[in-house]
Amino acid sequence: MAPFALRADVISAPRPADPAATVPLPVTGEPHGAPAHPTLCLVSRPPEWVAPGLTRKMAAFLANRPATPCLVVDGDVVEENYRALRAALPEAAVFYAVKANPARPLVARLVGLGSRFDTASLAEIDLCLSLGAEPAHLSFGNTIKKARDIAAAFDRGVSLYAFDAEEEVRKIAAHAPGARVFCRLLIDNTGAEWPLTRKFGCTPAMARDLLRLADRLGLEAAGLSFHVGSQQTDPTQWDRALETCATLFRDLRADGLTPSLINLGGGLPSQYAGRPVPALDVYAAGIRAAVSRLFDGPASDLIPNLIVEPGRGLVGNAGVLETEVVLVSRKDAGEDRRWVYLDTGRFNGLAETEAEAIRYPITTDRDGDGSGIGPVVLAGPTCDSADVLYDKAGVRLPLSLRAGDRLRLLSTGAYTTTYASVGFNGFAPLEAHYV
Ligand SMILES: Cc1ncc(COP(=O)(O)O)c(C=O)c1O
Repeated sequence: MAPFALRADVISAPRPADPAATVPLPVTGEPHGAPAHPTLCLVSRPPEWVAPGLTRKMAAFLANRPATPCLVVDGDVVEENYRALRAALPEAAVFYAVKANPARPLVARLVGLGSRFDTASLAEIDLCLSLGAEPAHLSFGNTIKKARDIAAAFDRGVSLYAFDAEEEVRKIAAHAPGARVFCRLLIDNTGAEWPLTRKFGCTPAMARDLLRLADRLGLEAAGLSFHVGSQQTDPTQWDRALETCATLFRDLRADGLTPSLINLGGGLPSQYAGRPVPALDVYAAGIRAAVSRLFDGPASDLIPNLIVEPGRGLVGNAGVLETEVVLVSRKDAGEDRRWVYLDTGRFNGLAETEAEAIRYPITTDRDGDGSGIGPVVLAGPTCDSADVLYDKAGVRLPLSLRAGDRLRLLSTGAYTTTYASVGFNGFAPLEAHYV
């Protein structure tokens, strides 16, 4: 693929990583006379995986039998994911989608790594700013914003805003005059396990009109965004959206505008127990090839500035949720399938089991104990009958499982604490530990 260069107005070199996190590489077999402090350093130790989905740090924390339910998140995994994404897609500025997990230790670590942030609310903006993020590194990416929140964000120095409707463009023009804006496209979310289509975005024709309006209202009509749907299992989905962007860029240039920004959104997956997903490099190579083909061709279109907004892809596999079995029962003595009720469910962390969309890998204390495994329905502890996690997914657990045992749901770092309700049925929101 032809290399393409960055333009500097959106993307600049990441800030140096937090020096406090610097750990010298252990040097073995060093010849005599070598410097005492080798210059080659790892910025942080990479996470040490002791089992699929479980790092040494997570395992050590869980060995102390913390109260359940609880989520344990290993920041080293997030750092590793961030670095892997920067390496795989160096042309794109990474704006972490704070909504996936807004925990302060994670956001602070990402600030230290030079990440930027996609924020959905004033509270998320203030969180990032309080941890040292620069306002110029934040995007107010929610297309649905109160006028007073736009004004407050602008006051704090935030200069990049999303929209998908005329009223929103007018709000931004009135309360964040001269700001850079991008229009979110409504695109197909085929292949996504957690689609985000319908509610967000507008058609390409409307996007063209709205960006022209933004320009007339004195805003900087920076470009376009899209979201291919969360947990996108098909890496070619970005291609199709980028084709739409390329056509629109040409149309907008014909209108006298100078769009320069494409926001690739989220969608990068975590590995769950459902459909296997390709490696990050496959996604990155597909995106790079599409950009190169569509924007660097004979028409010599300018290569756009790229933004990518990973949520799940950065924090999903960094977490393990430990939960206790409250009851194992059968609905009839002759029934094969057991019901396993846990102390966590749809309302305190596992909302993404809705329609069994996200299938977390599960391990138990009794795995491999020789009792055999059998089919179960997994359910949460509340009195709501919608609080069933997996019924059709075909989950099978040890036959010896009983009340008081612990289960681990892996890859639960994203969209768990954020989806925990304040106290539905008196069950506390999910407790989380960052290690
Ligand atoms: C605007 C925007 N960007 C990025 C994301 C993150 O998506 P994902 O977790 O699939 O990476 C979301 C998720 O809802 C979003 O709404």
